[in-house]
This record gives sequence, C-alpha cells and structure tokens, in this order.
Amino acid sequence: MSVDDIVEAAPILQLDNIGKKYGNVRALRGVNISVRQGEVTCVLGDNGAGKSTLIKIMSGLHEHTDGTMTVQGAVRRFASPRVAQAIGIATVYQDLALAPLMSVWRNFFIGNEISRGPFLDIARMKRICGAELTKMGIAIPDLDRPVGSLSGGQRQVVSIARAIYFGARVIILDEPTAALGVKQSGVVLKYIARARDAGLGVIFITHNPHHAYLVGNHFVVMKLGQVVLDARRDELTIEQLIAEMSGGEELVELSHELRGVSPDRVVTPQLVEHGGVTAPDHTASRLPRNDEA
Ligand SMILES: Nc1ncnc2c1ncn2[C@@H]1O[C@H](COP(=O)(O)OP(=O)(O)O)[C@@H](O)[C@H]1O
Ligand SMILES: [Mg+2]
Repeated sequence: MSVDDIVEAAPILQLDNIGKKYGNVRALRGVNISVRQGEVTCVLGDNGAGKSTLIKIMSGLHEHTDGTMTVQGAVRRFASPRVAQAIGIATVYQDLALAPLMSVWRNFFIGNEISRGPFLDIARMKRICGAELTKMGIAIPDLDRPVGSLSGGQRQVVSIARAIYFGARVIILDEPTAALGVKQSGVVLKYIARARDAGLGVIFITHNPHHAYLVGNHFVVMKLGQVVLDARRDELTIEQLIAEMSGGEELVELSHELRGVSPDRVVTPQLVEHGGVTAPDHTASRLPRNDEA
C-alpha cells in the first residue's frame, strides 16, 4: 500500500456527532473524528475539553449518549473495556495499568498468562516478552526486574509493545508524555511513530502541541466538549497549532503575565501588582480569534 492508499483508506474508527451527558453536564457535543490506520491522530485540548471522556467512550468505560461510533465499518457501542479490547482497541492510561512491583514479563502477560498444564510457562513468556521488546527497539536485559524500576518512558513502551502483541489495531495513549522530561518524552514519541509505522491507528492525547506535531498526521483540537479544529498536517503549521491550543486572547494575557515575572526584571511586589509594564496596544497586538481568522 502506498501512503496515498493509506490516506484514502476508510477509517478504522469513526465518531459521528458523538455526545455525552453526565446528568446535566454536557461533556461532549457533536464530535466527529476519523482515525485511520498507519496514522497518528492527535487529540489536543485543555483541561475540561473532554479528552478523557472521549477516550472512555472509545475504550468502553463509558457509553456515549448521542451519535454513532463505527469500528471497521460496524456501528458499535461498547458495554465494557473487555469488548473494546476484544475487537482490537487498546488503551494505555497515563497512570499506567502496570503493577510496579511485578516483573517486566509478568506485566507484559498480566491477564493473558501462558500456562503449560497447571503451571505458568515462565520461560516461554520471558522469551516472547524479550522478543517483542526487541522488536520495538528497546533493550531490557533483565526481564525479572520490577517494572517500577524502569524509567517512565520505558514503562510506556512496555505498555505499547504489549498492546501491539495482543492484537491491538487501535491504540489510545492518554497523555503519555505529560509526566516525562524531554529525553523520556522523546523515547515515547519514537515508539508512537513505531506503532504508527506498524500500521496501527494511534490516538495520541496530549496538551503539548510540540509533541503532537513531531509525530502527528492529523490534529483534532477540542474545547469545552466540542471540536474546534480538525486538520491534516499539510493544512496546519506548528505555529497555528500552538495558537489554536492557547486561544488568541489567552495568549496575549499569558504574555502579559510572563512579562510581569520576567526573571531579568528586578521588581518590587508593588510593581508586579501594577504590572510594571506599559500595556501594549490591545487592538494592535491581539491575535485573531478562532472565528475571525
Ligand atoms: N463522571 C463525570 N461526571 C460528571 N461530569 C464529568 C464526568 N467526567 C467528566 N465530566 C465533565 O466533563 C467535562 C470534560 O471532562 P474531561 O473529559 O475529563 O476533560 P479533559 O480530559 O479534556 O480534561 C468536564 O466539564 C468535566 O467536569
Ligand atoms: Mg483528562
């Protein structure tokens, strides 16, 4: 398949006009998203945007109250995460579904243990786990090590490798880089790219536009439960994505605040309180809002 074929291929997972109400709270409204295989679909948004709610619907933790979800051409409504997993949708949560004190190989096979007769086939599980991690390009010489002793990035990679091995076709990553430093984030981003190149549909939830832009093919920005931007990489620059994430007015406000606390400016508390800076001409410096670009 050429890249063009993949782009043209039908989405593996599609949300049409999805809504979710929690009692009177409308967490999602009119959400349309298409996830394709061999692509990273980035879902960005601030706190409260509805990202977690969206993941919960796709991974079977919650049911949507409006709209339809289609997976590989069939309309689906997941009654439980098991159902979602069974048809190949794996979710890697930020706080990780790994048991920190258990070994790497145990974690890899947790819930899917291989046994031989009445006993666990430890040798075989270790062999497979080692081979799968090597395929992902990660070397963990001692698979008996507790997962908790691995770096945050390595732990994420173990989760990703496990999802791929157990047949995931769609992998949802909930803020996998949020708690990581630059180097570790790089490790995780590399494996996101590998999962994509292995043909999975990757859904990468983040509020970091830089991370998203490094690996993303497709960007969906959410605000207060709605999609405010849906663009392919060639339709969007990193600057536009950053601006879209912050919102023009919020950016201007933030820049005021940052100027107020600029480290090279020696100011007394009173000066900070009054800004100590001449207010820039608002009308001239204001970035365009969503609706006026
Ligand atoms: N279980 C719940 N009950 C009631 N309201 C909820 C529940 N989960 C989320 N919400 C509300 O839905 C909105 C979206 O939340 P969420 O999906 O967690 O956003 P995000 O993950 O982008 O921060 C928020 O207003 C939140 O308060
Ligand atoms: Mg969330």
